[in-house]
Amino acid sequence: MKTTIFYFSGTGNSLAVAQQIAAKLDSTFLVRIQKPFPKHPDVSADRIGIVFPVYMWGLPGAVKEFAAKLGAGAGKYIFAVTTYGGFPAATLHMLSGVLVKGGMKLSAGFGMRMPGNYVPMYGALESDKQQEIFNDSKGKIAEIAETVKRGAQGRIEKGNWLINAVLSGLIYNLGIGRIPVSDKKFFWQPTCTKCGICAKICPVENIKLVEGRPQWQHHCEGCLACLQWCPVEAIQYGKKTIGRKRYRHPEVGVKTMLAR
Ligand SMILES: Cc1cc2nc3c(=O)[nH]c(=O)nc-3n(C[C@H](O)[C@H](O)[C@H](O)COP(=O)(O)O)c2cc1C
Repeated sequence: MKTTIFYFSGTGNSLAVAQQIAAKLDSTFLVRIQKPFPKHPDVSADRIGIVFPVYMWGLPGAVKEFAAKLGAGAGKYIFAVTTYGGFPAATLHMLSGVLVKGGMKLSAGFGMRMPGNYVPMYGALESDKQQEIFNDSKGKIAEIAETVKRGAQGRIEKGNWLINAVLSGLIYNLGIGRIPVSDKKFFWQPTCTKCGICAKICPVENIKLVEGRPQWQHHCEGCLACLQWCPVEAIQYGKKTIGRKRYRHPEVGVKTMLAR
């Protein structure tokens, strides 16, 4: 049975989770969610997976837009995994709503705790703490793969309704629309070597290189890939990120991130 897993990932957590699930299923193909989006994504596989991070207790804008394009996958087994640093709230229900609107159905949805990557608020966890989280995730990866293999329907993880209403309702709706222009806070420092990785790794073509240096185009997804993967830490987001420890999934290299 063939499976296509579409993944969106800024710092490798969702990509690593997609890879680990793929390793437990037969004939699974990974496809990066990136712009420009195809008009009609290839949903010819028997099963469709969507793996992505939680942003502001909800769906990243690009994932919402992409999921709405999967309509040709109606009637297929669709599963989703959302990776999060603290709390996923009603993210999977939000995805379910987008799919239902497009005539599809989310068959199963899982949250997967991973190290948080929001460096404007906190630095990366120490390696041993990261490792504990990765170790804890192994059982759930196996459980997800088993559920998908069985084609089990109906389990869509969610939190308490009141917390969901505040976080995924109120705060998400107030905040998500501001992310595209929040890139005004990014800047580069003179240590920039003009390597261009920031522009290549951006999943939504939001970085134009001007004389080799990044210029953000205000249709940002907030994934922080540009900042986190800069090999000399020359990209900052406001002053707070200066000197703060970057996060990248330790088993995902830049080449894998850039693979198309
Ligand atoms: C813009 C942004 C918003 C985030 N919001 C949340 C959140 O609301 N709740 C949470 O638990 N984690 C949040 N995170 C953390 C990520 O969901 C988490 O680290 C995820 O695993 C990153 O996946 P990636 O490495 O595939 O990009 C946020 C991260 C970013 C960059």
